[in-house]
Amino acid sequence: MRIPQPFQYQGSKRALAATILQYLPPRVHRVVEPFAGSSAFSIACAARGRSKEFWLNDYNKPLAELLGLIINQPENISDFYKATWRGEDEDALEHYYRVREDFNRTGDARLLLYLLARCVKGSVRYNSEGLFNQSPDKRRLGTRPDTMKENILAVSALMRGKTIVTAQDYRDVLANCRDTDVVYMDPPYQGVCGERDSRYLSGIVFDDFVAALDQLNQRSVRYMISYDGRLGDQTYGQPLPDYLGLTLVEIEAGRSSQATLLGRQDVTFESLYLSEALAEEVGARPRTHHRNSSTQMTLLESPSRYGKIFT
Ligand SMILES: C[S@@+](CC[C@H](N)C(=O)[O-])C[C@H]1O[C@@H](n2cnc3c(N)ncnc32)[C@H](O)[C@@H]1O
Repeated sequence: MRIPQPFQYQGSKRALAATILQYLPPRVHRVVEPFAGSSAFSIACAARGRSKEFWLNDYNKPLAELLGLIINQPENISDFYKATWRGEDEDALEHYYRVREDFNRTGDARLLLYLLARCVKGSVRYNSEGLFNQSPDKRRLGTRPDTMKENILAVSALMRGKTIVTAQDYRDVLANCRDTDVVYMDPPYQGVCGERDSRYLSGIVFDDFVAALDQLNQRSVRYMISYDGRLGDQTYGQPLPDYLGLTLVEIEAGRSSQATLLGRQDVTFESLYLSEALAEEVGARPRTHHRNSSTQMTLLESPSRYGKIFT
């Protein structure tokens, strides 16, 4: 099944969504994604008819607005993208910088679609003043307008009329979840343990996150969390405390071709934690999902978000 993707996004769970879906109970009323990004998991759920409703949230306001436009105004946003996109044009790089400047001045979510399609690795980066400062990918022009429109129309057809989109802090979303929801969380990555301040997950306070999970447990809200994992036997991310009663499932995310070149066998595993209520309902036990050994990440996709592993 081909699952449409509205835009590339660093850390997208598109490749892992099918495995994660195995842990979703069969009849779900609403899937909630407090850290939606490109919403890869919810789109995969919708494509397989696995949830009646969706709540997408991302603290990045223009990003949340863009998701809303894609779902509710697919023709308008596709036309806007077509008018903004540049082909093999001498001026294409200059054009990218002009769009970036306009976006930083106006915060217009429609411009973000072009920046995401065209920037390095779909990686959203802001400077200390909150201005988008990611560079253009010089080797790629960004998704062609016809393909973009096809993807946008497909996402809209799957999610329109059953999705709400908000731009709140994840804690406000979790406070409003019900015991009929299943929450899928993919918070920002922490990277190598001990390398950065372990109290934060890129802006999220670790203790606040754990307290929010504890609250969900007390309210019997079912949830799963994608979390930093391990490369070989080096683990990343501060461990979640045992008292939360989570079940750990590891998902092989690929072998870095850089490691292969160096003759190493290191394989990246991403962690998926299931809440006790969810694990019990779907009969999950701790396990590791392996993928076809020939599947490797490309050099470009090397897991830089896990920290400076190869340097
Ligand atoms: C790892 S990405 C999610 C990627 C997503 N699973 C996908 O498939 O594209 C984490 C997202 O969390 C958002 N975020 C960061 N801090 C947040 C907060 N306090 N509340 C809600 N969202 C937040 C970021 O803007 C980012 O889009």
